[in-house]
Amino acid sequence: MLRTTLDKMKKKNYLLETSREVDIEYEMGAVLKKFNNKRPILFNKVKGYSMASVGGLYGDREILYELLNINHQNRIERFMAALVNPKPYKVVNNGPVKENIIKNNIDLQKLLPINRFQEKDSSTFITAGILVVKDPDTGKFFTSIRRFQVNGGNRLSALIASPKLTNDFLRLEKQGKPLEVAIILGYDAQFLMASQYSSASYGVDKYKIDSSLRGQPLELVSCETVDLLVPAQSEIVLEGKIVPGVRELEGPFGELMGYYGAQAPHPIIEISAILHRNKPIYQTAFPCREEHVSNGLIREIELYYHLKNQVDVIDVYVTEGGGYRFNACISIRKQREGDGKTAILAALGLNKDLKHVVIVDEDVDIFDPQEIEWAVTTRAQASMDFTIVEGALGSSLEPSHDLRGVTDKVGIDATRPVSDEEGNFSRAIIPKYDNIDIKRYFSNI
Ligand SMILES: Cc1cc2nc3c(=O)[nH]c(=O)nc-3n(C[C@H](O)[C@H](O)[C@H](O)COP(=O)(O)O)c2cc1C
Repeated sequence: MLRTTLDKMKKKNYLLETSREVDIEYEMGAVLKKFNNKRPILFNKVKGYSMASVGGLYGDREILYELLNINHQNRIERFMAALVNPKPYKVVNNGPVKENIIKNNIDLQKLLPINRFQEKDSSTFITAGILVVKDPDTGKFFTSIRRFQVNGGNRLSALIASPKLTNDFLRLEKQGKPLEVAIILGYDAQFLMASQYSSASYGVDKYKIDSSLRGQPLELVSCETVDLLVPAQSEIVLEGKIVPGVRELEGPFGELMGYYGAQAPHPIIEISAILHRNKPIYQTAFPCREEHVSNGLIREIELYYHLKNQVDVIDVYVTEGGGYRFNACISIRKQREGDGKTAILAALGLNKDLKHVVIVDEDVDIFDPQEIEWAVTTRAQASMDFTIVEGALGSSLEPSHDLRGVTDKVGIDATRPVSDEEGNFSRAIIPKYDNIDIKRYFSNI
């Protein structure tokens, strides 16, 4: 899990390591952010704690591909294969995560170097924790990243925006029963990716998706105080229950798009046990950018397959600037007039979050913002090629939506006409451009 990942990162020189003492309050987050949350950083000396902390682990697409043994071209196919071919996990009797078990006098903030990130954040927050729950009816395991506000002692607030999880909890709450949970810290890229498949859409067991992605069964051990299984190789596991009938204020918190999310009452989790390896490494993430690459990658497979039935889609990019959630660039091989508009309708219909989509031809690199700007400038006219859908439901993670509670969605068809006999939309070409070896002209370059 995490330790193998850190070894791989060290070998490749991706991992930055510092032994300078750092503060959990603001300083660590600031260092992570200086690298745009794309550089894995191991903080060996955290002020007031004996535990090391690591952050920025999975914020870089290329590093993530490498850790997952995939590449840019085959990513969509590989992520889809894991979804349609989930593989069994393996339950083992013991594992390193059980080297230390704490059940009494749990004070989360004293035990773990949980960070405070931004000025108006209401408290310290666990930001990289993966929540595990078991479906009360099917016994399937669901994992997802959620943020957890530290409320003092053994109590956390949970922000759970998933309809499936919320419904599971509300159903139990009506019967006066808690929902058992575990929070995993110190995991690898496969475990992270599995957590980002949508429970509501697929209802799949995410431990089985993980096993498929890693090409071998994920090894799990049973918890001490709840009826759940957790990865044997995790660094730290918090066990507990979402308590029925209790709500505490959560937030404000500096969120995904760099604005503060509002304060609201949310359910709380009481932690009943902490499991951890010897010399555990705490896992942190600057909110909320870095792990969102993984969320965006899953959105890309969903978008790709959603479009595939309707147009000849080549590639999709759910962009970084749009929080890996709100904006997408899509390249298609246009076969018929109207394919561009069809692609807009299909994309905007995928989910409430997508706000802006740009459709381009196969000769445009959708990962290069300059290429997108070029295509929109030279191949689109607003009155004909911009489609605006007013007043649709959007995402509350975005303040301009919250102003009215609805969002305008925009699709831009920046594709060429299908028949372009005059060649008006063909790029000017320099013959033999690719054969020019610039070193033959300038030896010092
Ligand atoms: C870094 C990161 C932080 C996230 N934080 C939250 C959160 O605080 N609350 C939430 O409901 N979803 C959050 N998500 C989204 C869920 O993790 C994601 O939607 C989930 O894994 C998919 O499962 P679901 O269908 O059960 O939501 C976060 C995702 C990432 C990548």
